[in-house]
Amino acid sequence: MPSRRPKAGIGAGHGPIYSGFRPTLGGPPQFVGSVEASYESRMKVDGKQTRTIWVESDGASLGIIDQTLLPHRFAVAPLKTLEDAAHAIRSMQVRGAPLIGAAAAYGVWLAMREDASDESLERATACLLATRPTAVNLRWALDEMLAALRNRPRGERVAAALHRANEIAEQDIAINQAIGRHGLKIIEDIAVRKNGERVNVLTHCNAGWLATVDWGTATAPIYLAHDKGVAVHVFADETRPRNQGASLTAWELGQHGVPHTVIPDNTGGHLMQHGLVDLVIVGADRVTAQGDVCNKIGTYLKALAAQDNKLPFYVALPSPTIDFTLHDGLAEIPIEQRAASEVACMTGKTADGRVVSVQVVPDGSPVANYGFDVTPARLVTGLITERGVIAANRAALAAAFPERAKLPS
Ligand code: MRU
Repeated sequence: MPSRRPKAGIGAGHGPIYSGFRPTLGGPPQFVGSVEASYESRMKVDGKQTRTIWVESDGASLGIIDQTLLPHRFAVAPLKTLEDAAHAIRSMQVRGAPLIGAAAAYGVWLAMREDASDESLERATACLLATRPTAVNLRWALDEMLAALRNRPRGERVAAALHRANEIAEQDIAINQAIGRHGLKIIEDIAVRKNGERVNVLTHCNAGWLATVDWGTATAPIYLAHDKGVAVHVFADETRPRNQGASLTAWELGQHGVPHTVIPDNTGGHLMQHGLVDLVIVGADRVTAQGDVCNKIGTYLKALAAQDNKLPFYVALPSPTIDFTLHDGLAEIPIEQRAASEVACMTGKTADGRVVSVQVVPDGSPVANYGFDVTPARLVTGLITERGVIAANRAALAAAFPERAKLPS
């Protein structure tokens, strides 16, 4: 059985992360100039340091955690070819916007190992780009790989591809840790207001470490708060149809010892009305230049409920999730529609320990399976980024990420 541990230089990393900005909701962020010199990997499975994707010790293949098997079975799947990587993304063995980006970057490396020609590079990026439409991190990572490889001699492409893919993975960890630090302040402030009583965070889907390389985005502040001794508890929406909340968020919070409760998707509004939720933190698959947020289907309803109950609704995202080429999220973001079987059937463990799938709708009933929805910027209290907590609007995003905002639109 392959090791669960990261190999080949993808262990705990050290490197620069982006500078800090002072949180300024409603205005442009102020640069406060703190540059972090190092970052650390954090997540553990059965007490062992683990990440979601790594280069195996053979130096020729990748290991991933097969997320389609969680929470009932932890298994590592090998990826040896471009097709393996594309299949892993399509089938959601790896999923979550930042991890999809990292997996695609490594997929290009696998393709270059097979054939480093221009045609192969174009074919690989086109094949990977077609795997899932909504998370923009996929396109971002492939653009990064193309920029790193296109003008290089073929003989250098394999090494250069691995180098850039490793950088993308390491950068993801650093970014998420920075998101954690900025979001921690929000949780700590609420804890102070509540005189140390536990802070209840509601989250949707899985924007945890399983959705990234390490730490997670929405979960990074939660892990930091928990590790610091702040009393924090998470309501994890089950997130039908694929149950990322019930299967993945609950599993990883449990591995880290964070108190949590899984709730059916429709419970959040009731909890908010009864003062049982202090804030919502979700992840994102794509955030437009004006701050509209696309995330797992059902996120919008939580934002509406939060607004009606005057609760803060935060979105945690790394900058590769921002799509400065789009403005109106509702009109412009492609929403993935997946197989009807994901809605018609549910998978779970039987009393005697077998994992089985059962049909929950009548034979022949049509179903719809929209993977994502868009929360308009006006419902978002703040965007927790690696550069600080910023307002969900065009000016704040452009001021925080000027080098990305000037991309042609
Ligand atoms: O369909 P999935 O499981 O890939 O959807 C994942 C989400 O919607 C996450 O919230 C999002 O990718 C952010 S992950 C840090």
